[in-house]
Amino acid sequence: MLLEARNITKSFTGVKALDGVDFDVRPGEVHVLLGENGAGKSTLVKVLAGVHAPDRGTVERAEGARLAVIYQELTLVPGLSVAENLFLGRPPRRFGIVDKARMRQDATRLLDRVGLRVDPGTPVAELGIAQQQMVEIARALDLDAQVLVLDEPTAVLTDTETDRLLAIMADLREQGVGLVFITHHLDEIRRIADRVTVLRDGRSVGVLPRGASVDRMIELMVGRTISEQYPRRRQAPGEVLLRVEGLTRAGAFHDVSFHVRAGEVVGVAGLVGAGRTEVVRAAFGVDRYDSGRVEVGGRTLPGHDVRAAMRAGLGLVPEDRKGQGLVLTSTVGDNLGLVTLRSTARAGLVDRKGQRGRAADMAERLRVKTSGLGQEVRELSGGNQQKVVIGKWLLADPKVLVLDEPTRGVDVGAKVEIYELVNRMTAAGRAVLLVSSDLPEVIGMSDRIVVMAHGRVAGELPAGTTQDKVMALAVQEFPA
Ligand SMILES: Nc1ncnc2c1ncn2[C@@H]1O[C@H](COP(=O)(O)OP(=O)(O)OP(=O)(O)O)[C@@H](O)[C@H]1O
Ligand SMILES: [Mg+2]
Repeated sequence: MLLEARNITKSFTGVKALDGVDFDVRPGEVHVLLGENGAGKSTLVKVLAGVHAPDRGTVERAEGARLAVIYQELTLVPGLSVAENLFLGRPPRRFGIVDKARMRQDATRLLDRVGLRVDPGTPVAELGIAQQQMVEIARALDLDAQVLVLDEPTAVLTDTETDRLLAIMADLREQGVGLVFITHHLDEIRRIADRVTVLRDGRSVGVLPRGASVDRMIELMVGRTISEQYPRRRQAPGEVLLRVEGLTRAGAFHDVSFHVRAGEVVGVAGLVGAGRTEVVRAAFGVDRYDSGRVEVGGRTLPGHDVRAAMRAGLGLVPEDRKGQGLVLTSTVGDNLGLVTLRSTARAGLVDRKGQRGRAADMAERLRVKTSGLGQEVRELSGGNQQKVVIGKWLLADPKVLVLDEPTRGVDVGAKVEIYELVNRMTAAGRAVLLVSSDLPEVIGMSDRIVVMAHGRVAGELPAGTTQDKVMALAVQEFPA
């Protein structure tokens, strides 16, 4: 045994995050930790790593066994370069001075290993979150650990990157490394897990062997079965609510056109770097564009003006929710009310009581695990923070809601709730633009799918298309 935790109990004010959990790691295995958002997975990781002292219980490590952890929250320093982050606190030295040339070389070797093609001198702030995650992974790999813990590394990765990471993990397993792997993607568990420990409400409710069925995992995890993973209810589309026409920004996206009608969910698929997030951010007014037009409900929006976009009825759940979607030091209730409060206040009245009622309602529907609306958002588990951002925009009820990777890091049960709320919006005549790297999700929930490649629209596919057809368009090359 490389690592053995016994009877771990850990409480935070008002919450018992872990309650008598046993967990161990053997050499040469991938031990998956599975559970709903807030079940206690990250807390257990932090206890294993010694970040949190348990209230009760013990953690024993085999002599000399080193542990490396890839935490759920990214820990890179945005102002520093990729290489500086890789060797933070332990740069290669020569005669006592940091050896820059060697650092560059070592960094290139590590980046190669994870398949990340960026210059080691690039500031981390300029990378997308998938790329940042790959840097985190590269850094952990360099530590030569006997135990490697990965807390939801694939949440922000696309299929290709995930494939590569799973291959690296299988390699490490061959070399006798013990891996602890957390993910909400059950197919990944089927591919790589040797054992699965399921946590529910801070307790270990079972250990499944390799090859356990997805249904069995879901049942243990949420305590019920889920009949329909993508419960899309379609209806006849109405008028065009969002029209993007010829949108172009040099170096980012070129001549992008599409529209979304009332009652429709239009998916946007593509590989990382295809320009999907860039286009929706520009359409929402966060970033500028060089030419083209964005219309909401027939009215052209001024460029680079988020307030105007919101007034016109556009909403955006951003991809980088920690950075752009939440006020971490505010309460759950205040975060849920952020957008709605602004609009009611503008109308000259603030109905605080109604506001709180609706916030409480939404928190319950999305099963946000919290001790109450007064709890600070930063104390919530990763997945529950995501739910709060989505809840805030669903409450705001915009005419057109743009969801950029809405179910990243969200457990299977809560995903279905989000899809039901999307259905409710479209049934009420709203329109939804769904940007997602999760192919089953984008195919299962969209009425039409716009596929982007290299900053352009590569084509459009109807509902019920196949993953192969989406991928064929997503890898399309354009003549220069
Ligand atoms: N610092 C903290 N202060 C208060 N409560 C906390 C703190 N950290 C975690 N919790 C609570 O402990 C519980 C377990 O959280 P944890 O982060 O371990 O969940 P998780 O299983 O990792 O969920 P997710 O899938 O969303 O990442 C949650 O109810 C969370 O709100
Ligand atoms: Mg977690």
